[in-house]
This record gives sequence, structure tokens and C-alpha cells, in this order.
Amino acid sequence: MARRILIFDTTLRDGEQSPGASMSASDKLVFAKQLASLGVDIIEAGFPVSSPEQFDGVNRIAREVEGPIIAALARAVEEDIRIAYEAIKPAKRKRIHTFIATSPIHMEYKLKKTPAEVIDLAKRAVSYAKSLTDDVEFSAEDATRSDLNFLKEVFLCAVEAGATTINIPDTVGYTTPDEFYNIVKEIKEAIGDRAVISVHCHNDLGLAVANSLMGLQAGAGQVEVCVNGIGERAGNAALEEVVMAINVRKDIYDFECGVNTKEIYKTSKMLSSIIGFPIAYTKPIIGRNVFAHESGIHQDGVLKYKQTYEIMKPEDVGRSGSDIVLGRHSGRHALKAKLRDLGISYDEDMFEEIYKKFLQIADKKKNVHEEDLIALFADMGIQEDKMIYILKNVQIIAGDNTIPTATVCIEKGKKEYVESSVGNGPIDAAFKAIEKIIGIYGMTLEEFSINAVTSGKDAIGEANIAISIGNERYNGHGVDTDIVVAAVKAYLNTINKFIYRNSLN
Ligand code: KIV
Ligand code: ZN
Repeated sequence: MARRILIFDTTLRDGEQSPGASMSASDKLVFAKQLASLGVDIIEAGFPVSSPEQFDGVNRIAREVEGPIIAALARAVEEDIRIAYEAIKPAKRKRIHTFIATSPIHMEYKLKKTPAEVIDLAKRAVSYAKSLTDDVEFSAEDATRSDLNFLKEVFLCAVEAGATTINIPDTVGYTTPDEFYNIVKEIKEAIGDRAVISVHCHNDLGLAVANSLMGLQAGAGQVEVCVNGIGERAGNAALEEVVMAINVRKDIYDFECGVNTKEIYKTSKMLSSIIGFPIAYTKPIIGRNVFAHESGIHQDGVLKYKQTYEIMKPEDVGRSGSDIVLGRHSGRHALKAKLRDLGISYDEDMFEEIYKKFLQIADKKKNVHEEDLIALFADMGIQEDKMIYILKNVQIIAGDNTIPTATVCIEKGKKEYVESSVGNGPIDAAFKAIEKIIGIYGMTLEEFSINAVTSGKDAIGEANIAISIGNERYNGHGVDTDIVVAAVKAYLNTINKFIYRNSLN
């Protein structure tokens, strides 16, 4: 019988540590609910001691998200562990995840502690966590650059102190599949069934998914992943890649997991829209091109027999297969049926808002595709606490013989503000008009991209923006049939995040 493995999602903790990927507490809540629908076993919701906002994010998830175990991270320090516990306390099923570094380089230069002191701290941290809750995970940070005998000793002590999960992180993405297999196998042999072995792989050498799969092959029972592979530096192992590798290669991987693969695409889109990170066209499983066949030979093959060039079906990951289009005359029933097909869940209040937005789009473009609906839905993940300024309308004068001019009307509270500006182009003019209204200057536009969600002249445009203000970086996202409007929405979304975050300090 296939071995059931646990999917530990750390998008909201390690993933959020990606520069520019920080999320508000309500973004996190929306996304955590989606992770629960996706069917992950554990949600690592954050690092509560690091800020009041982190605490709040974890606490709201612990109160409101049902199904998965809610975990919080804590250094091997009593204060961290106590605060982590406070944050997850309301959850029905909760886990404290505590860690300390075990590699010579980290112990000597970062912790300035001897190996004996590290063992002592690990034992105390786990015992204290265990006095608060039964479910305790212990991680040896930088495990793959640690002495293997020392690593075994630390893990054995952690298990004796009560750890129920032992995590082996490849913190700097340094290991290789063969090497990692041996490390995990040796640890598994030392620990046996006294605790679940977990693997946590970073992607610095592009090996995170391969290493994770090898870790599972070597006996790990839990894999730690992030949606879209976000995370520190080059990111963590991508949830969608690990899950689909297991699914597609059942002949090799005799595992099963609780993820409903049909929810993958929506989850990925939602994350991308919340944090404003675009998805590379060629990103496995979720990229725009991964089910597209360009060359004649491939197209011919796929038309004759799909499996010639497709190893999985787009529908398997919740992407449109047949793409039956909706239009202006499609009623609520048709839209509801389509949302159901796409696995998009909503409550009645939210449906009215979706329907209103759907009609606005359908008014402008004849055919509304499934991809449009997914983009629209993902965009609605943008939460009220960021809706400080809302775009009412934007008018543009542009052309090759005119000075680009934009007039923008935005609303704050119940008041409307209007400003005009000229600029190097229509988007620049619109951004300047917004800056005049809001009175925030000194922002540097770091990144700006506009992509069409579907093909065709009337495709929905999806804009992603990154700005920096001082040392801080913020990302924003906007969707509209008009690309200038999509860009303006993304700019406002970014500025709203900046204002919201600073209002908390
Ligand atoms: O990469 C790492 O070592 C971590 C630990 C805190 C588990 O994220
Ligand atoms: Zn990590």
C-alpha cells in the first residue's frame, strides 16, 4: 500500500521571507483558507515573536482555519516558544516548531556556542514546547552542512525530550540528491519510528524538488514546501512540483498525500496576486506555456494523441481543459456552474461581487475565459485592509503627437480625489497623478510587467509592480481589460500595502 506522506506548507512563513513577499494578516488568512481547501496537512503560519503583525497573522489563522494543523516557528528560546504557543493556542490542532543551527559554521560564527551548548539548548527548547503542546517539531538548521554523527546526537536528544517530528533542512540549498538520500537514510535508521522525519529543501542550486523527493524515498514522512516555490533567496521546494511528481510518477514514488491537485492552479494564482510576484511562463505545472504546444510536430502529435507530448492533463491541476467561454449574456447560474467546475469556492456575498466584476469584464470583452475568471478571483484575495485608496477612474490622453496626460480619480473613505499629470508615457503620467493625490514621493519603481492572461486582442491584462521606499520593498498586482488601468490598480495596491504596513508601526 502506498505510504501516506504529510505536506507541510510553509508559504506563510519561509515563503513570506522572500524579499517583497510580505503579506498582511488578512491576506494570510485568505490564503490559509485556500491552503486548507488545497488539502495540506500542516500550515506553518508564521514566526510570531518577530513582530506584532506576525503574531496577529498566526493567531487569526489559528482561530479561523479548520482542518490542517497550525504550526508556528520559534527559535530555541523560551520567550519565542511561549509567544508561538500563545499565537496558535486557539487552533484545534497545533504544533510548535523550534529550531537551532547545528553546522560548525553556524555554531561558531552565528550562535557563538559549543556543540554541547547547542544540544543543551535544543533539549530545553523541546521540553518546554512539549510542556505546552504534544505536537512538537524540531529542526536542525543547516543540517546538511553539519557533522552527521553530531546531527544524529542532536536529533536523538530532541526525540527523547519529546519531539514528534524531526526536520532536516537543507538551509542553504547546498546538498545534492544522492548525498541527501544518504543523510536522511542514516537519520531515519537512528530515529526509527520514534518521530516523523521531515525534509525542508532550499533551491539555491535548483535541486530543492529533486532533494525533497530523494528525502521521501529515504524514509521521510513529511515534506516542507512553498506554493510557487517562493522562499528565502532562490526559494523552497515548490509544493505543486513535489505533489505532481509524486502523482505523475506513481510507478516510482509509492506515496500518497492529501492534496487535491485540482486546487493547485487557483492557489498558485491567488498567491501570485497577493504578493504581486509574476509566474514565469515556463514555471513547471503553473506557468503559462507548460501546456502549450508551439512546434508543428508537437501540435500534430498532441492532436493525434495527447500523451505524445503531455505527461499530465491541465485539468489535473485545475487549469482549463476545454475552456468553454462565458459572455455578457451568461447568467448567475452559468457563472456559478463554471466556478464550481473550476473548484472556486465563494460565499453568497462574495458571489455578487464576483458577478459584478464578471459583468464589467464581459461588457468589455466578448468572451470571458476560464483563465480570466481565475485571475479575477485571485485578484479578489486582495483584502480590505489594503484598500485604503480605491481607483474610481482614470482618463488618458496619449499618442505619438501629444504629451501623455492622465487624470486619475481615487477614493479614500467616502471622499474622492482627482489630479492630473503629464509624464513620459500614459502609465508614468497616471502614476504621477496618484503621487500628487497621495503625497508620497521618493518611491523607486523597481519592477513593472504587464502580461496578457489569455490570448487575443481583448485579453485581460495582469500588471505586477515592485517599488522601493527607503530600504523597504513592496509588490502589487492589478487586473483589468485595459492595461493602463491594470497598471494603475497595481500601483495603488502597492502604495496601499506601504501605507497599511506603516500604519501598524
Ligand atoms: O531553512 C531552514 O533552515 C529553515 C528552518 C527554520 C526550518 O527554514
Ligand atoms: Zn527554510
